[in-house]
Amino acid sequence: MNKRIAVLVSGTGSLLDAMIKDGLPIDLVVADRPCRGIDVVTLSAQPAIPAAVLYRASYGKGLAFKRELYTAWLTDFLERFGIDIVVMAGFMTVLSPMIFEPRHYGGRILNSHPSLLPLFKGDRAVRDALASGVQITGTTIHVATPEVDSGPILAQEEVPILDGDTEGTLHERIKQVERVLYPKTIRAFAAHL
Ligand code: GRF
Repeated sequence: MNKRIAVLVSGTGSLLDAMIKDGLPIDLVVADRPCRGIDVVTLSAQPAIPAAVLYRASYGKGLAFKRELYTAWLTDFLERFGIDIVVMAGFMTVLSPMIFEPRHYGGRILNSHPSLLPLFKGDRAVRDALASGVQITGTTIHVATPEVDSGPILAQEEVPILDGDTEGTLHERIKQVERVLYPKTIRAFAAHL
């Protein structure tokens, strides 16, 4: 694969861990906050993968968060590393539209979302699916656009909701599917870019 891939994380980084174990060539990992995802890279990646925390907290909190400035900083950082494909893996900062422009990373940012989009968008997708009473949910891998949890769908896989499921048990079963489906989808996407 000759495309340079960056993975963006904010949380536990179990999808990133699966990508590393899958042997997906990753050139850079960026977190928006200190998180286990960064530990995953520093502890388990052989050979080492460059990793950085670009602190979103430096750009203000809540409504004062300077989203455009943060997005510009991240975009510049990715471009300086010659990144071709940006993979969001539990990245919790909504980026402003400039990174999605064709001259930057438009059409080259991927996201995974723990529901069968367009159902249950947003950061409570697993909880909302459980509360709705549906019997099947799942995961979606898609090309990211400025509108959150939208954009062309590359792959989807169903996950049944079982009696007694909690948000935690259901999300973990969805992630088990994502840990296989996401690396596979990234490889196919990179091969056709
Ligand atoms: C995954 O369910 C992904 O779909 C969602 O965030 C979760 C990341 O999990 N966007 P982890 O931090 O890699 O364990």
